[in-house]
Amino acid sequence: MREEFKPGTLIYPLPAVLVTCGSSPEEWNMLTIAWTGTVCTDPPMCYISVRKERHSHALISRTGEFVINLTTERLARATDWCGVRSGRDYDKFREMGLTPLAAKHVSAPLIAESPVAIECRVKQCIELGSHDMFLAEVVGVEVDADYIDSETGKFHLDKTGLLAYSHGAYYRLGEQLGTFGWSVRKRPAAKPAAQPAVKSAAKTSAKPTAKRAPKSAPKPVAKRRK
Ligand SMILES: Cc1cc2nc3c(=O)[nH]c(=O)nc-3n(C[C@H](O)[C@H](O)[C@H](O)COP(=O)(O)O)c2cc1C
Repeated sequence: MREEFKPGTLIYPLPAVLVTCGSSPEEWNMLTIAWTGTVCTDPPMCYISVRKERHSHALISRTGEFVINLTTERLARATDWCGVRSGRDYDKFREMGLTPLAAKHVSAPLIAESPVAIECRVKQCIELGSHDMFLAEVVGVEVDADYIDSETGKFHLDKTGLLAYSHGAYYRLGEQLGTFGWSVRKRPAAKPAAQPAVKSAAKTSAKPTAKRAPKSAPKPVAKRRK
């Protein structure tokens, strides 16, 4: 049986990011945002939706710039705190012991403790109702070099301990279940078993693994011998 809920958004999990804003160190601020996402790959574009009454709303509207800082388990407390306290009343960097770093392309700062900072310039502000959506172009991305493999150059985002937000609660990510496209990828052909001793050949041919092998896999050793 299914039950109907009144219309609302129940799209979870989401990231809960720390969005930094303001154009000078005296006004630099951050707020927690869950209504965020990617909207275009080329040009790279994303959005954040912010209520008009947020202190940050005025800063972002005025400067047209903000930075999306991804959050991690280590930033979990700060992520929550910055989402229930206002920059009108607190210096959130100081309260949370976080370090502002000058960004390369925008006047808003990065959070040094975040593994990924996405610098954004607002293209459009769309008034939707409760929230205004700031549609923005990504103008720069900075990552924590500690997560870059010095040999391969690969960025290990999976090792950063990213935080997820779902239905009012924060979670760490779980076990990896697959990678992009794995569902249709051909499984590597099973290695032919080592040549068994003649005595056990009958047993080998009875193994059910042959049935499960993909069509392209080499035929089981026992059959080929026939
Ligand atoms: C997990 C979480 C997600 C939030 N997501 C949003 C959001 O998407 N948009 C928004 O306007 N406020 C959101 N908030 C609330 C703001 O972060 C909060 O009101 C904050 O205190 C505003 O800070 P400011 O007044 O310094 O700008 C969220 C809060 C939490 C805890």
